[in-house]
Amino acid sequence: MTERIVLAYSGGLDTSVAIGWIGEATGAEVIAVAVDVGQGGESLETIRQRALGCGAVEAYVADASDEFANEYCMPTLKANALYQGHYPLVSAISRPVIVKHLVKAAREFGATTVAHGCTGKGNDQVRFEVGIQTLGPDLKCIAPVRDLALTRDKAIAFAEEKGLPIETTKKNPYSIDQNVWGRAVETGYLEDIWNAPTKDIYDYTATPEFPPAPDEVTISFEAGVPVAIDGVRVTPLQAIKELNRRAGAQGVGRIDVVEDRLVGIKSREIYEAPGAMALITAHKHLEDITIEREQARFKANVGQRWAELVYDGQWFSPLKRSLDAFIEDTQRYVTGDIRMVLHGGQAIVNGRRSETSLYDFDLATYDTGDTFDQSMARGFIELWGMSAKVASGRDIRVAGK
Ligand code: ARG
Repeated sequence: MTERIVLAYSGGLDTSVAIGWIGEATGAEVIAVAVDVGQGGESLETIRQRALGCGAVEAYVADASDEFANEYCMPTLKANALYQGHYPLVSAISRPVIVKHLVKAAREFGATTVAHGCTGKGNDQVRFEVGIQTLGPDLKCIAPVRDLALTRDKAIAFAEEKGLPIETTKKNPYSIDQNVWGRAVETGYLEDIWNAPTKDIYDYTATPEFPPAPDEVTISFEAGVPVAIDGVRVTPLQAIKELNRRAGAQGVGRIDVVEDRLVGIKSREIYEAPGAMALITAHKHLEDITIEREQARFKANVGQRWAELVYDGQWFSPLKRSLDAFIEDTQRYVTGDIRMVLHGGQAIVNGRRSETSLYDFDLATYDTGDTFDQSMARGFIELWGMSAKVASGRDIRVAGK
């Protein structure tokens, strides 16, 4: 029987050419797998037809946008995950859901190998292949760009020679990856890290310098998940989309960073994640009133580690799973409303309320009705400073000798 390979298919030039390229190089039949993670653009049906037109024997297309929002974006939100303090893991969280569908398609169509269009320099090859190794340990991996010398120029020549139903003239100088959680743009002019991004780079966000009138929004959460916007019930996917639109119109969520890739390279990336950044800001502020201090401090570290694991392709790892359990436990009381103003590139919280809040007005107030016994503070401070005081006494003693 002819060997079969499932290919992670985007519908773009490189993966369209990869269908025939892999076929010629390996003699295998190629099954194109397209997964909708809310990236917008062409319909899945258009993409299916193109895959078949480019020589795929089968096309597997899946609308995974709700699955992606529920099972990948929401955990990222609960973790307030920002890699290196900046990046909300847009591409990193889309790979595991695509991997799930690749493995499912491989089983369905009897494939032995999984192919993806990543280069040998990035994080995504690692995320795909580590994910495949975990979910389908018997499956082999191949990357035509990395392993079969499929360069951009060769791709264009191949498409023209074979008359593939794909545009080869539209030259975009950037490498772009996008989904409902955000958008990532790199390469070209941006590789000079002193160059400011030009306007044409952005798509999810409007220029924050000339914003429309301020937009006040109330986001309601239940156990860490957004469930309503301005009182209207929403699914996680709808919440992200609505905030992409409203925060995006105000230029919220533009991020310009040089980040540490897993393969040891520092690289410049421009992100725009208006919905994600507005949601993370709101969620964090709700946690500030609903999570106990020590749990909150520890959770900040856990969230950071979680972000590193996910960035590094460890979505399906045991440690990531254990951290998920911790994070999930912290979300039990993260229920309530956050009011925020979206304006001029910023999302600023100006009100919060929650039935499960730990904010105690009577303890906090400086007005009458104060229930906090200030006389307890003296003794507390005495003991709190004791350890350092004893040590400093020793330091003085030793220095005097
Ligand atoms: N640097 C980001 C990451 O590793 C995004 C990768 C894809 N970016 C792109 N512009 N194609 O998660």
